[in-house]
Amino acid sequence: AFVVLDNCIKCKYTDCVEVCPVDCFYEGPNFLVIHPDECIDCALCEPECPAGAILSEDELSEDQQIFVELNAELAEVWPNITEQKDPLPDAADWDGVENKIEHLEK
Ligand code: SF4
Ligand code: F3S
Repeated sequence: AFVVLDNCIKCKYTDCVEVCPVDCFYEGPNFLVIHPDECIDCALCEPECPAGAILSEDELSEDQQIFVELNAELAEVWPNITEQKDPLPDAADWDGVENKIEHLEK
């Protein structure tokens, strides 16, 4: 499956949801996740994210591994999102900030 990573947090551009053929994105207050059992590995979303926050689980570095479990866990509790919306207000300022996981709201 593909996985949403740290840099989505506090940006949430949502371009990704527009291209997903199986609508497997789920939305929290300041982050999106992909449901691992629903993702068909089409790879369409990866280049759509302006923040570069989506990768295949096969491509993750060691410190990105925690996002595999986080996507799976939160996709079970957050609502589905299928249409693009405005990014969060300070998205441009937060793009590229390190350790945004500290700011994740569940
Ligand atoms: Fe959806 Fe394809 Fe991205 Fe999986 S890889 S989340 S199926 S767009
Ligand atoms: Fe997040 Fe990128 Fe989608 S910032 S909402 S993964 S387009």
